[in-house]
Amino acid sequence: MTVARTLITGMHGTVAPVLAEELRRRGGETIAWDRNEVPPHDEHAVVDFIHASCATALVHCGMGDPRWAEHMAACCARRGIAFLYTGSVSVYGHHQTGPHGVSAVPEPQDDYGRYKLACERHVRAVNPAAHIVRLGWQIALRPGGNQMVDYLMRQQAEHGRIDASTCWLQACSFLDDTARVLADVLERFPPGLYQLDGNPGWNFHRLACALNRAMGNPWIVHACEGLRLNNMVRDARLPSVSIEARLSGA
Ligand SMILES: NC(=O)c1ccc[n+]([C@@H]2O[C@H](COP(=O)([O-])OP(=O)(O)OC[C@H]3O[C@@H](n4cnc5c(N)ncnc54)[C@H](OP(=O)(O)O)[C@@H]3O)[C@@H](O)[C@H]2O)c1
Repeated sequence: MTVARTLITGMHGTVAPVLAEELRRRGGETIAWDRNEVPPHDEHAVVDFIHASCATALVHCGMGDPRWAEHMAACCARRGIAFLYTGSVSVYGHHQTGPHGVSAVPEPQDDYGRYKLACERHVRAVNPAAHIVRLGWQIALRPGGNQMVDYLMRQQAEHGRIDASTCWLQACSFLDDTARVLADVLERFPPGLYQLDGNPGWNFHRLACALNRAMGNPWIVHACEGLRLNNMVRDARLPSVSIEARLSGA
């Protein structure tokens, strides 16, 4: 079922515009949340805007106060509007070793991870019908945005090389694959918590080398053992977004 009219927050960010394009490609309409017009801290304005928008779904990709997420999620629950929150695998602390299943209990260790978990909890407390999808690091084969290739380009520019750890297993997926799965979840998956990861078990050095080849070998990539982290996640309910298929020729 195509979602008719979706309100989306975070449209100046990385994920939201790609998701909006995917929803429009499927025949839906999208409306960007303008924080200048509707301030996230003003609960009445938030509720009035959701009502006036006649949205049938709301996807919260924006950052901002967890209470904003809560107010939107509560309003959607009252009005029977589908609600999807884009979470993060960063809810798992560095001391936790993936791949994590959906039943793993997150123990975030940094501010971002704690913030993302707080948002999830605010949403769940008021909206049992919400979808929450934890994402890995996004990938697009271009500069710009909050994504892995842009990070690698900046490392190369700043240090003249990229030190990529062979002890780092990072959850990740291509941005357009992520958008397709988010749209699928919104359209036809039951409410609940989901985790999306297309990393079949490649370490960061292997990933960086494959992305280097896909980009035409502009970088110098060195193997190191600097960062030791495995935040991969698994969720067999979601369609595959394996990076292997996308990068095997690279
Ligand atoms: N990119 C990734 O690799 C990745 C990985 C895991 C999870 N995620 C999650 O996916 C979602 C989207 O990520 P993204 O990479 O698109 O994020 P992003 O590029 O950092 O953009 C987030 C957007 O949130 C809005 N925003 C920023 N500061 C805000 C504030 N103080 N209050 C309210 N809104 C604020 C802005 O959009 P507007 O100006 O349009 O409001 C901003 O462009 C986030 O929840 C993120 O945690 C992303």
